[in-house]
Amino acid sequence: MNIIETHDLRKRFKSREDKGKRQLVEAVKGVSMNVEKGEIFGFLGPNGAGKTTTLRMLSTLLQPTSGDAKVVGYDLHSQADKIREKIGYVSQAGGADTHSSAVENLMLQAQLYGMDKQSAKKRTEELIVALQLDSFAKRLAKTYSGGQKRRLDLALGMVNNPDLLFLDEPTTGLDPQSRAHLWEEVRKLRESGTTVFLTTHYLDEADVLADRLAIMDGGTIVAEGTPNTLKQQIAGDVVTLGVVAQNGEKEHAFSVLRGQSYVREIHDGTDAFQLYVERGEETLPAILRLMDGEGLKVNKVSLARPTLDDVFLRQTGRSLRETSAN
Ligand SMILES: Nc1ncnc2c1ncn2[C@@H]1O[C@H](COP(=O)(O)OP(=O)(O)OP(=O)(O)O)[C@@H](O)[C@H]1O
Ligand SMILES: [Mg+2]
Repeated sequence: MNIIETHDLRKRFKSREDKGKRQLVEAVKGVSMNVEKGEIFGFLGPNGAGKTTTLRMLSTLLQPTSGDAKVVGYDLHSQADKIREKIGYVSQAGGADTHSSAVENLMLQAQLYGMDKQSAKKRTEELIVALQLDSFAKRLAKTYSGGQKRRLDLALGMVNNPDLLFLDEPTTGLDPQSRAHLWEEVRKLRESGTTVFLTTHYLDEADVLADRLAIMDGGTIVAEGTPNTLKQQIAGDVVTLGVVAQNGEKEHAFSVLRGQSYVREIHDGTDAFQLYVERGEETLPAILRLMDGEGLKVNKVSLARPTLDDVFLRQTGRSLRETSAN
């Protein structure tokens, strides 16, 4: 079952008049996608790709310029109130009042959701335990470390027990240990049945955490799928193969390799071929047998697994590592 379905969602911002000129920014240019109930869905893309804008539209904070969406079963245009009851949203900057403690922040948020004092207290206590905030819960939030602050932000997004939680860059700026800790919290949420839709510009985060992901660039989705299918289908494994060449062996090897159905693409490097293949672990022995059968001597061989950066590179011609201001 899909918990989010969008159809050709667009957002155009009119920015302030600049020397009499009105600037239009097309932040989101026709996003159509589905998110399944119960999954961790990652939204990966460089700065300015349109991730936050999409998230804000889906969480009813921003009106789309055009297009439709269904979120938790309700229509984005006509049933925004219903959607708000069922979702949680944690912004890129976080929503905690830093001049209050975690307890005060959580109590206030719970009461904003209409809980009476007693229920608010119960929910606050539950979240403090769940996210291990106890050792600092009564201190002012401005004294928290980055990781502690982000855990409070996460707790605030969970106050109403949402079916769907939107997290905008939940781990940006955190040290590796705090990031790993937050990933655990996100996985626990999935185990408890919550669907999590998170944005990130960390490749490793999208790779290990997301069940499925969409890669966004310049306002459009350039690839969508599980991390593994994207890597296999779009990028493919890369076999590097060197052949001892004296009298035309290289040309011979090139033409034999090019004729194999499992070789998707072949590049002739200075001292080795780069072969893009599917299922490298099966293909590699076949390649070696082929070379042997042709009497060609191999002097170099390696197999490299693609990364999500290779997927991004394939789809956009640029590297996400270079594009993102990490
Ligand atoms: N209120 C606004 N008015 C004008 N332009 C805007 C507005 N909000 C966003 N934009 C522009 O829309 C584009 C997409 O921005 P968005 O914040 O969605 O990107 P993002 O993918 O979340 O990037 P980041 O990784 O830096 O958070 C950018 O070019 C941004 O400058
Ligand atoms: Mg953003």
